[in-house]
Amino acid sequence: MGSLTRRQILLGGTALAAAGLIPAIPRTPLTPAMKLMQSALAADIPRPDYIVRLGANENPYGPSRVALNAIHANLHLMNRYSADPRPLAKVVAELNGVTTENMVIGTGSGEILNVAGLLASLNRGSIVCADPTYQDLLRYAETAGAEIIRVPVNESLNADLDAMRAAVRNDTDMVYLVNPNNPIPSVLDKNEMREFVIEMSKDRLVFIDEAYHEYVDNPDYGSMIGLIAEGHNNIIVSRTASKIHGLAGMRIGFGFAHPDLATRMNQIKTGDACVLAIEAALASYQDDEFPKFSIRKNKESRQIVEAMCEELGLRYIKSNTNFTFIETGMENKFVQDKMHEYGISTGRDFPPYHTTWTRVSLSKPEEMRYFVQVYKQLFA
Ligand SMILES: Cc1ncc(COP(=O)(O)O)c(C=O)c1O
Repeated sequence: MGSLTRRQILLGGTALAAAGLIPAIPRTPLTPAMKLMQSALAADIPRPDYIVRLGANENPYGPSRVALNAIHANLHLMNRYSADPRPLAKVVAELNGVTTENMVIGTGSGEILNVAGLLASLNRGSIVCADPTYQDLLRYAETAGAEIIRVPVNESLNADLDAMRAAVRNDTDMVYLVNPNNPIPSVLDKNEMREFVIEMSKDRLVFIDEAYHEYVDNPDYGSMIGLIAEGHNNIIVSRTASKIHGLAGMRIGFGFAHPDLATRMNQIKTGDACVLAIEAALASYQDDEFPKFSIRKNKESRQIVEAMCEELGLRYIKSNTNFTFIETGMENKFVQDKMHEYGISTGRDFPPYHTTWTRVSLSKPEEMRYFVQVYKQLFA
């Protein structure tokens, strides 16, 4: 063995192997996730060899192992039009303190939103909503003939319930609320909300979209499903298997309403959840390990991005969901394009906030570290 240079001693095994002083051990090829993890320890995080999806608020870990097993076990049933949805309805109803008569199963909560949007536009009246908010129900209802009354969020970027109350007209057939909201991941105070929903639903439908319900860890928040259990008859709440259960591609979600309203919605629904979606959701909703894991990871990711915002002095909305909303001070399109050059897709424009704010989904912690590195390199 030749004598070691100071450099070889300092650099250790790799340099010794390179100098032929110890046998080289073949390197294990790194998967993208391993590369990211390894790089989290290093100074510079290399670009992953796939697009880091921070634009659609998906669960990066889903579906769970339990759901995948159910999908595999039921593949042979793909010749059937549908599976019996009743066991799934029973499980989800029990989890939420309602009965199966209160339930509508949709092809994603998107179908529930569309059905409700259709119901609310039959009289060609109006729908009151906060602005910005999630657009699917509103777009559908507008196409079907309703007028949308958009009420800007208040200074703390929360839905302005007083202004929404004042915006309601005689022809208003629905008030639409998303809680937590999207793209602004804030929540409304549960007591104010309950009072507002009860009051508004006396003369019209009130729809509460709770797609991100499972992510919320905030004592101010409360689901409105309880009002349905209490028998209120003009209220619809929606939930989805797309987020915490990681089943976005399966297209399955839920509506909750008074039995008469649920029956009406079931009559005008246009889709049927597919066999695999029903079986995957049935398995997934009986497992609490995966949702807990997803919540823990989401929290880790949120802390990584929030720490960056604090460090750079960027305003951001404390997230109650699996995405965050950051005031970058730049056009969203510019941020989007720049991030894309580094293999990251971020949220689309949300007018009128698109000139200075960007929505960023919370994916795996190692991916958020890469996002932070790129953001700092580009803009800090
Ligand atoms: C607030 C909100 N509601 C509903 C949906 C639709 O979810 P899905 O149709 O996948 O259930 C989304 C999707 O991102 C959302 O953000």
